[in-house]
Amino acid sequence: MRLAPYDVAMPSGPASVEPPDPPLTDGRVRLRVLREDDLPRLVEEGSDETTARWVNVPVPYGEAEAREELHTMTAGWHDPAFPLALVIADAATDEYCGLVLLLREHPHDIMEMAYGVHPAARRRGLVTAAIRLAAPWAFTALGVARLEARTDPENLASQRALARAGFTREGLERSSRSIQGERRDMICWSLLPADLDQKGSPADPRT
Ligand SMILES: CC(C)(COP(=O)(O)OP(=O)(O)OC[C@H]1O[C@@H](n2cnc3c(N)ncnc32)[C@H](O)[C@@H]1OP(=O)(O)O)[C@@H](O)C(=O)NCCC(=O)NCCS
Repeated sequence: MRLAPYDVAMPSGPASVEPPDPPLTDGRVRLRVLREDDLPRLVEEGSDETTARWVNVPVPYGEAEAREELHTMTAGWHDPAFPLALVIADAATDEYCGLVLLLREHPHDIMEMAYGVHPAARRRGLVTAAIRLAAPWAFTALGVARLEARTDPENLASQRALARAGFTREGLERSSRSIQGERRDMICWSLLPADLDQKGSPADPRT
């Protein structure tokens, strides 16, 4: 499964979760559940070199692998062994642009956020927008007390997105995760409910 970071699963959060209804949107992106017609975009994203550099996607990644992910990423809504997966869709066209995952392997009320954007949709602020929508929902609808995220120190895009979305950089974890079979140091980031601004979205540290 993509991005599963632990050897021992300790599912967190409620067993069964309703996707946000109405869907979370800021007018530019809308977060919705993954669908069968997203498969071609999933294949393109999963087989992208940059995705495979930072994320534990199977290599090579084709339709069979995308179908497997479609299965695990829709199962999470009723099975805590799997992540909650929200598609980052273009609010105007509903086209798949990427994924935000809430990983449930942590104990208690901590979840880890992971994400990826289709190569053609990168550098348009979409993941930042999606994190800013998904984080408050996780706090209020799921009772999450702490959101975590981990980035490779060399993954600048991911770090900038987290900082932009209001996460705090906590520090370097040595040999923290295995990515594509190689032990890697990871920077741990966190976001707490108290970090939200008065509008209920993560405060932008640069405004
Ligand atoms: C990381 C990733 C999700 C970012 O998605 P995105 O939608 O392109 O990000 P945004 O457009 O919201 O940009 C966020 C910030 O990163 C910066 N950025 C984006 N791509 C960058 C790059 N290749 N190099 C440096 N900075 C980059 C943007 O300029 C922006 O910073 P700013 O607001 O200070 O200008 C995307 O690059 C991706 O899918 N990468 C492969 C998978 C991955 O790394 N997942 C995360 C694993 S921890």
